[in-house]
Amino acid sequence: MKKVALVGAGGRALHMFARPLATELREDVHFCGVYDHNKVRAALLAEECEVPVYTDFHQMIETAKPDIVLVATTDNTHHIYINTALEAGCDVISEKPLTTDADKCQSILDTETRTGRQVTVTFNLRFTPYFARIKEVLDSGAIGKILHVDMQYFLDRLHGADYFRRWHAEMDNSGGLLVHKSTHHFDIINWWLGADPKSVHGFGTRSFYGPTREQWGERCSTCSYKESCEFYVDYTQDEFTNRYYMQAEQEDGYYRDRCVFHERIDIYDTMSVQVRYDSGAILTYSLVTYSPDEGWKAAITGTDGRMEVACRYSGPERDEESYTIKIVKPSGEILTEIVPIASGGHGGGDEKLRAMLFKGGIADPLGQQAGSKAGAMSLLIGAAANRSIAENKVIQIAELMNFS
Ligand SMILES: NC(=O)c1ccc[n+]([C@@H]2O[C@H](COP(=O)([O-])OP(=O)(O)OC[C@H]3O[C@@H](n4cnc5c(N)ncnc54)[C@H](O)[C@@H]3O)[C@@H](O)[C@H]2O)c1
Repeated sequence: MKKVALVGAGGRALHMFARPLATELREDVHFCGVYDHNKVRAALLAEECEVPVYTDFHQMIETAKPDIVLVATTDNTHHIYINTALEAGCDVISEKPLTTDADKCQSILDTETRTGRQVTVTFNLRFTPYFARIKEVLDSGAIGKILHVDMQYFLDRLHGADYFRRWHAEMDNSGGLLVHKSTHHFDIINWWLGADPKSVHGFGTRSFYGPTREQWGERCSTCSYKESCEFYVDYTQDEFTNRYYMQAEQEDGYYRDRCVFHERIDIYDTMSVQVRYDSGAILTYSLVTYSPDEGWKAAITGTDGRMEVACRYSGPERDEESYTIKIVKPSGEILTEIVPIASGGHGGGDEKLRAMLFKGGIADPLGQQAGSKAGAMSLLIGAAANRSIAENKVIQIAELMNFS
């Protein structure tokens, strides 16, 4: 049985990996250790999941001797743990995004090549039945060769705002949302297209969050504007957030409820990106983070038709039971397929991904399991868009990375 160690003991680590490893996956893999630089959080997870806790990552590798290291720390630290684990002879499963910029990405790909070990990136959306069914239909040639993709992604004021409360709000920590969040979307589009991005152009503004208001504070719990601010939250009311974050903040100063209008915020909240692919296809993509409702819409146009797909996750038009794949053919014929909404984390994607990662022997005809190349390609679109925004020019992916 393979031994698996975890670095990072936050919400994603607990829900996606630690709890399932300690329960339904007990017979499949041996969960042999956890490390987080916040000792309180690490100890809570260790106690709950009955796994040994370490206060030093290297010591965990040497003592627990894992075959696989799961990396679920903040995005800008992934490369440190990925590279150290690879050098120690372990395979790595990294949360998305693989990392936050091209230089760190290059170091990961180089270390993977040198050590001969393997990095897997957990793109759970590929495992969500709706996204997977779209891939199958596109691969069947239902709209011919894909020439254009138009995707709008909109985050609501709960989910979207949350990124501006935490470490994600600083470019150095997350690469901004074009890396941290859009890596999911760029990966899905790369996967649907079966193509690699070549050239990227972007625009980004900070127009809604960040220093856009006179009335702001350090954090909600100490704010003078609690009564009037529509973004006020009290995380002590949520049992998990209170225990794992509010009661652990003395360790590292990680405040879970920082002000969304704080002057430290330097990421964009409004983004638009264009990508040209090696297949000749063009992508038009947008992300906003303060929408009244949450979801996405895409129109995919090929030589033999146009596909329209969409999900509404919150708001008055929230999809409750199913999503639709609609295809308009050049003849005028309209084909419609209904895809039921699966239960579970990320529309059922998390469970299927875990089975693929830890149970073994599961066929992968759609290529849902993503490696470092896919991780690199999706993050590099975001990294290139960030550079394009800063330098006001089109960026070639080949300028950022050496894939040899
Ligand atoms: N696939 C998905 O749908 C999905 C969803 C949420 C988060 N994520 C990813 O999972 C990862 C964790 O996200 P989260 O929401 O749990 O964040 P979090 O802030 O709740 O947890 C991150 C943890 O990393 C720890 N940490 C930070 N720096 C560290 C360091 N240098 N060494 C050791 N530990 C360190 C923190 O103490 C914290 O416990 C991120 O990479 C994020 O992008 C993926």
